[in-house]
Amino acid sequence: MDLGLTDRVVLLTGGTRGIGRASGLELAAHGARVAVTYRHDKDAAEDLVTELGGQEGAMAVRYALDEPGSPEDAVREVTARWGGVDVLVANAHRRRPRRPPTAHFEDVPHEEGAAALTDNLLATLRTVQCVLPGMRARGWGRVVLLSSHVAAHGQRGQEIYGAAKSALHGLARSLAWDAGPDGILVNALAPGLTLTRDVCDNLPEAVREAEQQRTPTGRLSTPRDIAHAVVFLASAANSHISGQVLHVDGGR
Ligand SMILES: NC(=O)c1ccc[n+]([C@@H]2O[C@H](COP(=O)([O-])OP(=O)(O)OC[C@H]3O[C@@H](n4cnc5c(N)ncnc54)[C@H](OP(=O)(O)O)[C@@H]3O)[C@@H](O)[C@H]2O)c1
Repeated sequence: MDLGLTDRVVLLTGGTRGIGRASGLELAAHGARVAVTYRHDKDAAEDLVTELGGQEGAMAVRYALDEPGSPEDAVREVTARWGGVDVLVANAHRRRPRRPPTAHFEDVPHEEGAAALTDNLLATLRTVQCVLPGMRARGWGRVVLLSSHVAAHGQRGQEIYGAAKSALHGLARSLAWDAGPDGILVNALAPGLTLTRDVCDNLPEAVREAEQQRTPTGRLSTPRDIAHAVVFLASAANSHISGQVLHVDGGR
């Protein structure tokens, strides 16, 4: 099946590792030009650009969830080089230290909570706003918002992350109405626990086994599993799905 991604311009935030990196590889394999963003690890982004065949079909762009003006700068840079953004994959994620097990939600300082909301929600809202005018002008666009199983099932200590990811579901649901008439489809994708290198390094074996047993397929998702769903939602093969949350978690 032709996924209609040939020469489409993708802005993929947080492409240096994990789900983002896997998505970049899959999108490029289907012919897309991929702008890979980094925040701290420029070398990793440039390595991926090289792996994707160099400057013709890929570029590394700085993008910071925690810096006002960064979404505008990133979209401007990609537009200057390739004429616009056809697909936004909003994947970037700033890891925060886990709350100590003895602390409760009310112990989280307000400033810390507000910063986590900015990282996981407000920066994404702004990035979506930046790409929409060009998509409307071209009459075609795909927005894929990386959410999480935490939004659906909850997790102790992840209240603000869960609230922010749940808000992305509301964003997809409502933006589908505003963007749909202009050929733009907006969806959220909620991965289950996914075996990125960071997750593998920090997941105790007993927890991994318990999680696998609770999964119908008997295994956890890989970054490639998630990337396959990103490619579908980002492509022309997704011709009429909008405002949805796609759970990619082996059936949990
Ligand atoms: N892995 C899972 O189990 C899982 C489960 C459910 C949902 N998710 C969601 O899936 C997405 C990808 O997760 P992941 O585990 O693959 O992430 P990850 O391995 O932690 O990678 C995070 C990416 O975001 C970038 N980043 C970090 N801080 C940033 C900042 N302040 N501003 C802009 N970019 C920043 C990183 O770039 P640098 O390397 O340059 O810093 C990196 O490319 C996230 O939205 C996450 O919430 C993941």
